[in-house]
Amino acid sequence: MLSKKQARMLFIVSTGLFAIVFLALTYDSMQQIPARTNAHNLSASAIRGHEIWNDNNCMGCHTVLGEGAYYAPELTRVYERRGEKWMKMFLKNPEAMYPGQRKMVQYNFTDGQIDDLISFFKWIGEMDLNGFPAKPTIKMSSAQNNGAVSANSPQVFKDVCVACHSVNGSGGNVGPALDHVGSKFDAAYLNKWISDPQAVKPGTAMPQLNVSDADRALVVEFLSGLK
Ligand code: HEC
Ligand code: HEC
Repeated sequence: MLSKKQARMLFIVSTGLFAIVFLALTYDSMQQIPARTNAHNLSASAIRGHEIWNDNNCMGCHTVLGEGAYYAPELTRVYERRGEKWMKMFLKNPEAMYPGQRKMVQYNFTDGQIDDLISFFKWIGEMDLNGFPAKPTIKMSSAQNNGAVSANSPQVFKDVCVACHSVNGSGGNVGPALDHVGSKFDAAYLNKWISDPQAVKPGTAMPQLNVSDADRALVVEFLSGLK
């Protein structure tokens, strides 16, 4: 049995000891933050992106670093998952990407604001978070795509179309697989379809994407070859 005095001593010594351990660990964590977050990469553009993120209360629906609301996807690794081109197109007009089904707000951001947001996501995405969150299962941007999509498909296909379409089993399944689309449609049809899907098939769920003429020509050539 401890005497009253001994019990008090035990309380004081152990509380003091663990307070010191706690402060030391906190200090150690604080010391690591600049390296883990790559603070030196925090550009003016990424800072502006963070301000846009806060001003528009994106956290009302999304989380970054696990913080925020759970209505919409976690965005910590969105840069790695989606890539720059896709994000640019999406943020310009989210509704076009997922016609009639999704609830991401149309903000009418300028190109500069979109670039700032993307810098912000890139910076967040490069943080060392001890493996949080799990590595994305989809990686749309360029060389990271596995399978045949990366072999001979044009960049715009890898950046945007694979979000919804697959070739050789690699890509999304929102739209049909395009393995034999070249024997189904001719180049003129494909060209018209990609420039304005609604004009070809009113009510279709294929979005009208803001693809440049040059990119469209490349993608039509690629698809025509998929016999
Ligand atoms: C009202 C809720 C809401 C708000 C506010 C909101 N979003 Fe979203 N966002 C969504 C939903 C829902 C999705 C997923 C649907 C989709 O894929 O279209 C999404 C998807 C995204 C994606 C693509 C994620 C992926 O991997 O497909 C990005 C990037 C994004 N939002 C950025 C933002 C930014 C930046 C803001 C603030 C400026 C914001 N969102 C505000 C609801 C919201
Ligand atoms: C957000 C999802 C989405 C994206 C991104 C998307 N598509 Fe589609 N696509 C669809 C859907 C859904 C359909 C089916 C439409 C229908 O049948 O009404 C479709 C249909 C098609 C078809 C017709 C296929 C067939 O067998 O009938 C082609 C060709 C096509 N898309 C090409 C493209 C190309 C090229 C891109 C990139 C520039 C692209 N799509 C991007 C969703 C998408």
